[in-house]
Amino acid sequence: MNDQKFKPIPVKYDRVYYGADYNPDQWPEEIWPEDMRLMQAAGVNLVSLGIFSWAKIEPRPEHYEWAWLDRIMNLLAENGIGVNLATATASPPPWMAKLDIDTLPVNQAGARLWPGARQQFCPSSPTFRLLAQRLVRQIATRYRHHPALKMWHVGNEYGCHISECYSDTSARAFREWLKKRYDCSLDAMNQAWGTSFWSQAYSDWDEINPPRLAPTFCNPTQQLDWKRFSSDALLECFEMEARILREITPDVPITTNFMGLFKPLDYWKWAAQEDIISNDAYPDPSDPASPMDAAMACDMMRSLGNCKPWILMEQTPSQVNWRNVNALKRPGQMRLWNYQALGRGANGLMYFQWRASKAGAEKYHGGMVPHIGTENSRVWNEVAGLGQELKRIEPALLNSTVRPKIGILFDWESWWALELDSKPSSEVTMLSQLKAYYAPLYQNNLAIEFVPPWADLSQFKVVLVPNLYLIRDEDDLSPRLEKFVSEGGRLVMSFFSGITDQNEHIRLGGYPAPFRKLLGLRVAEFQPYVDGQHNNLRLLEAGQDLAAEKAETAYSCNLWNDLIDLEGAEVLASYTQDFMEGQAALTRHQFGQGFSYYLGTQPEAGLMERLLLQVCHEAGVSAPLQANVPAGVELVRRENEQGSFLFILNHNPAMVQVDLSGLNEYQLLLGDAGELPQDSLKLDGFGLAILSL
Ligand code: GAL
Repeated sequence: MNDQKFKPIPVKYDRVYYGADYNPDQWPEEIWPEDMRLMQAAGVNLVSLGIFSWAKIEPRPEHYEWAWLDRIMNLLAENGIGVNLATATASPPPWMAKLDIDTLPVNQAGARLWPGARQQFCPSSPTFRLLAQRLVRQIATRYRHHPALKMWHVGNEYGCHISECYSDTSARAFREWLKKRYDCSLDAMNQAWGTSFWSQAYSDWDEINPPRLAPTFCNPTQQLDWKRFSSDALLECFEMEARILREITPDVPITTNFMGLFKPLDYWKWAAQEDIISNDAYPDPSDPASPMDAAMACDMMRSLGNCKPWILMEQTPSQVNWRNVNALKRPGQMRLWNYQALGRGANGLMYFQWRASKAGAEKYHGGMVPHIGTENSRVWNEVAGLGQELKRIEPALLNSTVRPKIGILFDWESWWALELDSKPSSEVTMLSQLKAYYAPLYQNNLAIEFVPPWADLSQFKVVLVPNLYLIRDEDDLSPRLEKFVSEGGRLVMSFFSGITDQNEHIRLGGYPAPFRKLLGLRVAEFQPYVDGQHNNLRLLEAGQDLAAEKAETAYSCNLWNDLIDLEGAEVLASYTQDFMEGQAALTRHQFGQGFSYYLGTQPEAGLMERLLLQVCHEAGVSAPLQANVPAGVELVRRENEQGSFLFILNHNPAMVQVDLSGLNEYQLLLGDAGELPQDSLKLDGFGLAILSL
């Protein structure tokens, strides 16, 4: 299902982009020169301009006010600051709803969502599409030769507030989308949706609706197709703008800002239409899991672009305004998290926003220039200090990336299907299962790449498959996984994978039907556990390598127990309790030159860690430093033809010492610790170092 429709512009970077969303239209023009002076002082070289400026650019239909935008574009160019120019379509002006009320979105309960906030558009509304295209054409034509123009920022965070619109307009568009998917065959659609169940058969396309509020569970394939359609409807809006931009400025790269592992949009499909992948990241400074979650989002962005550099398009310099309680980033933490993104392949570090707003719903959101101004401001000193620091180190880092040997299969459609209603357990959710794999790898500094199920796997030594529930025929995954393992690869797969096909119909013949041969087993039944319920695991002889220090039954498991019939696999661990006592829980199967491991349950974190470390060890995959690294210290390596750069990031508020004795030769590109003691490095709390290897 590779959806690459165009050839992306190969973007070569000569800078690390540094800057912010810039909303000069919220401020009197008298302060713009001051903005320019401060931007220079902070090393700002790129701003995202005009994201929410539709009403200012086009205050009445087809009446354009360019003078202010011309002036600020010129001012930025004069000051050597590039512009990531928005198409301004993210928040339609109030006049659009007055002109056509059906441009407004409708929620699942049938309520219309009104202007007064932002993003109030129905993606399928012909009026919205027409007016958005008209605006984009105007903006692109006006600024196509402008020296400040560096890239296009299409829309903003598509789907952030409204990812599904249930209006009649959307219903009509959904029917058209279904006709395309099912080749205009209502029979094929009825088959795919399994409508012989509960008297759901459709005899006319017009009978079909979005999965609006219904007495009980809506048809699962209807829900799945609806999710596909909703992601596609927004993607069409993006593509419709991108087409105009490509026609008018074929050499200017295009991006739209993603939101990490955002469920409603199939970012594999979206990423295939972008020149530059960019992301907005707002990890909660009060959550100890934030560094890992942020790392995972960085890895996803790099993976979406096939390891090419990506841009951290938004982050707060200090705090956000939209949580119940909005913690500050601690001194040093903002800088550290920027280097985390850089270490994981970013080539741009941007904030929301330049100047903290005086009015509006985001006035308590941090800005590079805070309400108190820049004098004696910690936030300002940190952001400006980082901007200057980047100038010193960027030449070394440009156009390098991370090249992991571990791949994690991840698929949006499978995520949607896994979390539809009426499953054996609604406690099995995609992100928690993904994190069960990601956490031990992150803690042990083993780099991963996310890959879609259709991707080439040849660059990996280990492939991990956390709960890949839905398997499409067209991806041809099982023969490709068999090839990967038979040629010496290591595969680890979790329970409730390979269960349904693209229509969310069960793949019959024993679970997980597509992978039975590869795994050497059949799952006959599932026994999910409620929260708090657990079983224990006994390690058998073949699983002794996984034993914790002393006991062979030291590990517990919870959430889910597969009842496994062996068909060639050997048992590493078995259940010790309940009616499945003595039966296989964790298995390994030699397949050609390689091995496939299967987890029929969710083991406690300690066993998950031992298993993944063991598998990586067998496959010859290791962390960048062999020595023990203190907990909370993250290592990641960027490389290019010239060499590699090891980022050592201390997420602890306290100082740590890192043993570098495993490294042959290195130079300190950046470090907080002053003198570099023999083969060891001291890092302050939230401090970091970059070694050139
Ligand atoms: C993002 C959005 C920005 C701003 C920011 C605040 O979701 O793109 O416009 O609202 O959040 O954190």
